[in-house]
Amino acid sequence: MKRVIIADNAGFCFGVKRAMNIAYNEIEEKRDMQVYALGPLIHNRQAVEKYEERGLITVDEIEEIEIKENIEMIIRSHGVAKKIYDEARDRGIEIVDTTCPFVKKIHEIVKKSEEDKKAIILLGDKNHPEVIGINGWCKDSAIIFKDMDDVLKYDFDYDKSYVVVSQTTMNEENFEKIIEYLESLNLELDIKNTICSATRVRQQSARELSSKVDVMVVIGGKHSSNTQKLVNICKERGNTVSIETREDLYDVDFSNYEVIGVTAGASTPDWIIHEAIEYLEKL
Ligand code: F3S
Repeated sequence: MKRVIIADNAGFCFGVKRAMNIAYNEIEEKRDMQVYALGPLIHNRQAVEKYEERGLITVDEIEEIEIKENIEMIIRSHGVAKKIYDEARDRGIEIVDTTCPFVKKIHEIVKKSEEDKKAIILLGDKNHPEVIGINGWCKDSAIIFKDMDDVLKYDFDYDKSYVVVSQTTMNEENFEKIIEYLESLNLELDIKNTICSATRVRQQSARELSSKVDVMVVIGGKHSSNTQKLVNICKERGNTVSIETREDLYDVDFSNYEVIGVTAGASTPDWIIHEAIEYLEKL
């Protein structure tokens, strides 16, 4: 029989749990309202489908919302740009804001920094909704670096004062490498490590467990950035299988592995994790 070890801090983080609970209450308690979500509530198809079955409508753009009485729009935990709030207000759409408080804090930092005429360095993926949202609180002025290659290509202005923030799910090691380099340039820097502690501890637990087991199973959406970062962390240390649901395990050959480690992204619901563990334990 295989031994299955579950990493500490696997699955829903505080911000996602909070957002999902608020959304659930809106859908269940306000039956007379049509509830929209601007973008998939979380990067987990199965969980989103469950909410949609209960009446939630997911739209990609605010313009897709049909304006009529009794509608409201959920802003998900990633947060959105300031202009979305303005647009919703102008169109008379009520907002249910589930932006994670940790992301909100970054919005405040960049907004204040922009008002103070500081240059903002945002470490993260420019295509990720959280990063787009953050940038939208400093009038899209942030200099966005995804990795060291981007940093090395950039021509810094030594007359400017820079504030550095990061996407909450950034890989801690990459963050530190970039900061070390920026500090070596002797720029005027104000560094705010805005990597969320939930991300930090989840990544650390995955790192530790992946060096102790024969294979790691990482559960989470293919489009979930924090899940894919966990996959990369585990791959750096050994055999890694990335799955969305238990069904993805059926074709994997575990015969050469005795000890299996399991972790899951911040947007992976408990029931999906339990189903996968149950299958692995029966191997
Ligand atoms: Fe918030 Fe951290 Fe989760 S920023 S949404 S608690 S990963």
